Amino acid sequence: MPMIKFVKEKKEIEVPQGACLRREAIGAGINLNCGVNGIGQSVNKYVNCGGKGMCGTCRVLITQGMENTNPLTKREWFQFKTPFHDPVPCLAYIGHEDAMRLACMVKVNGDIEVESCPEFNLFGENFFS
Ligand code: FES
Repeated sequence: MPMIKFVKEKKEIEVPQGACLRREAIGAGINLNCGVNGIGQSVNKYVNCGGKGMCGTCRVLITQGMENTNPLTKREWFQFKTPFHDPVPCLAYIGHEDAMRLACMVKVNGDIEVESCPEFNLFGENFFS
């Protein structure tokens, strides 16, 4: 059975093949619906789209084992690459194109390592380049 390692929370859980990352995190008592750099995290824990890939608040970084997940979904593509409806997910995606996913859209097919609530730096080297 696949293992998910939550780096910041220092927690490892075993999940069924094809499990939803967000659902398994909730079951383990981990909130992946974060705000912007921690602001709004307590609100987003309860005010979110419920795992439909619509709000973009469950952003995570898959720091290891991206190959053990499903490919980027259309809803993730919409959240990360179309800034018109909500610029926050798009700004967060910059510089994390190889690792950022929406936890509610990730199917876990093998061992992965997850960084929850990734911060984004608007003034980082990637933003204005
Ligand atoms: S919970 Fe809303 S996008 Fe994942």
